[in-house]
Amino acid sequence: MKIRNSILIVCLIVLSKSILIAGEGMWIPMLLQSLNEKEMQDMGMKFTADDIYSINHSSMKDAILLFGRGCTSEIISDEGLLLTNHHCGFGAIQKHSSVEHDYLTDGFWAMSREEELVNPGLTATLMLEMRDISKEVNNGVRADMTENERNAMISDNIKTLVEGFEKQSEYKAKIVPFYKGNQYYMIITETFKDIRLVGAPPSNIGKFGGDTDNWMWPRHTGDFSLFRIYVGKDGKPAEYSEDNIPYTPKYHFPISLQGTDLGDFTMVFGYPARTNEYLPSYALELITEIGNPQKIKLRETRLDIFRKYSEKDPEVRIQYATKHARVANYWKKMIGESSGVKRMHAIEDKREYEKQFVQWVNSSDYTKNEYSGMISGFENYYSQLKPLSLARDYFSEAVMGMEIVSFSFQYKNLVNLSRVKNPDKEKIANEIEKLKKRNTTFFKDYYKPIDKEVVAQMLKYYDQNIEGDFKPEFFAVIHKKYKSDYSAYTDMIFKKSIFDDEAALNNLLNNYKPKDYKVILKDPAFHVSDEFYDIYMSKIKTPYFNISKNIDSLQRKFMKAQMEMNPGKRFYPDANFTLRVSYGKVDGYKPRDAVNFRHFTTLEGIMDKENPDIYDYVVEDRLKELYMQKDYGKYADKDGSLHISFIASNHTTGGNSGSPVIDANGNLIGVNFDRAWEGTMSDLAYDPDVCRNISLDIRYFLFVVDKFAGAGYLVDEMDLVQ
Ligand code: ARG
Ligand code: GLU
Repeated sequence: MKIRNSILIVCLIVLSKSILIAGEGMWIPMLLQSLNEKEMQDMGMKFTADDIYSINHSSMKDAILLFGRGCTSEIISDEGLLLTNHHCGFGAIQKHSSVEHDYLTDGFWAMSREEELVNPGLTATLMLEMRDISKEVNNGVRADMTENERNAMISDNIKTLVEGFEKQSEYKAKIVPFYKGNQYYMIITETFKDIRLVGAPPSNIGKFGGDTDNWMWPRHTGDFSLFRIYVGKDGKPAEYSEDNIPYTPKYHFPISLQGTDLGDFTMVFGYPARTNEYLPSYALELITEIGNPQKIKLRETRLDIFRKYSEKDPEVRIQYATKHARVANYWKKMIGESSGVKRMHAIEDKREYEKQFVQWVNSSDYTKNEYSGMISGFENYYSQLKPLSLARDYFSEAVMGMEIVSFSFQYKNLVNLSRVKNPDKEKIANEIEKLKKRNTTFFKDYYKPIDKEVVAQMLKYYDQNIEGDFKPEFFAVIHKKYKSDYSAYTDMIFKKSIFDDEAALNNLLNNYKPKDYKVILKDPAFHVSDEFYDIYMSKIKTPYFNISKNIDSLQRKFMKAQMEMNPGKRFYPDANFTLRVSYGKVDGYKPRDAVNFRHFTTLEGIMDKENPDIYDYVVEDRLKELYMQKDYGKYADKDGSLHISFIASNHTTGGNSGSPVIDANGNLIGVNFDRAWEGTMSDLAYDPDVCRNISLDIRYFLFVVDKFAGAGYLVDEMDLVQ
């Protein structure tokens, strides 16, 4: 009896674990039928893998587009209406904004097709088909080849295959490695080039909670914006023209007004950019215990300086708003990621796993032959990589973080064009035009006192943390001539440089003669950036690249070995900016002792957070009015309240922003826009207990469009399911 009970308990634990674990993974659309369909249906899904991805008839994939270069979007009407996040449309909204029409602050609603705004350069890309092309890519690759020979052969094959495809097709193709280069898929796409802005809520809805609430639950952000795809009269992608017509998609998502309940099936379909779930422990250690903490400190220093001046001067706050959001976003993510990995003991778990792996390798002649020495190989490569990786991080975070330094570096090309024997006048003239434009954009959002403090701090941190070999010569000058006073050296830079002076720079460009390159070379800001650049090119870039190449080929074999070691296990490939399906369940979580998070938020929560004195928590009068009247119409939940956002256990990452969240019936119920803080390590290790994606409740979107903005005619265009 006793034994029976304990067996039962073990079974229950195993069972409940396997139920919870349904959530991890970003799956390949064309393999769903064989790998996932059954589990998805067991979890409640009422449609089939073929409804998600098919090349024979229209399917959900025909309504999902890569938005710009980094987000996902979905089509929600048969006239090409495209839904994505506010933070994804932000750049476009900002470009149309001016003091007279501040669409960022006030929102924007095209009340007719004519009012929709054109966005030159903005694209949306549809995946038409994916093909497993591993065999063709590996054609001619032999086991006795060196890694370099192998890589060259594969690159050649890829080039030939893509060219071959594109020659006979109107579409574009690219070939992408999956499973660390153990498989290759050809991705066939069509890119739309006339994407017009249709609507955006005011920032205090679309960015409500700002950077304060970013990466956190409970969340109340109305993070959406609306666009429309236009095509030529032939229905094909075309550059903007007045004659273009709205796109008729093969598929668009119906929208559910039903809402979600705890435990409901959800699916996220979009473009996750990068994950690294199969790294060895040494890599995890380098990222979370060395790289992240250093980068966090460097970013924190800059953010503190931004904040200090932004609080004093609202104009500075606007100038540095985008910079602040960009720096703060991954600053916060890295903190969450490192502490999540620690909390999970992910490094220790990997070490344990590596021990088992070595045992497995030693268990047969075949495995010994194929896979011996891999873990110690990783150890060796990562210890070589460490100083280089740190220096590289300091280049991207500290050196590029000094605005005057990274900006002056843009003049390098002009110097190079000028210092040759017979300078090409035309090329120089073009370069000067480019630089003049850059000057305008740079100085529009530049505040010298901020940069001055940043430069002094970044130089100090670089000096203190980076090995002597990677230090430019000017550091010796700082120590000798400036008695190690980084601020004094910085003062000298700003006193003598013209790169902090728009008028002086334009004057140089307007009267530029090739011999003037000497003025640039002598400039102390340019001098600093040039010395940094030399060090990077001569001592960091190539060795880093070479070690990384060795690691990549080891990682490819490690992936293959792991799949052989666990033949029963389903492996999903790391995210690589290709279309993927994640699925999970609506679920709250327990972030810490005694705290239990519910799975949804409501308008009440917005009113609770309201604070007219804090920028991130200002609530529009119109929204307050609607709240007072409790007039939510058909957008109210069955509990009577207006739901704002919800969380579920779908495995997502950057790039999934804007992805549709789909219910068991295939209807749109939300738009993915973030992850919850405690689960941000899911790019490296997924913990089913706390990894949650955050989605906008689609009914809040409809409510804002219809009731708040009075753009109900847009809702008429959509298919609402009661
Ligand atoms: N954390 C979300 C995503 O990477 C949202 C970022 C934009 N929002 C913000 N408050 N900065 O990337
Ligand atoms: N906000 C992220 C994006 O822009 C999604 C959040 C995440 O990393 O999961 O793609």
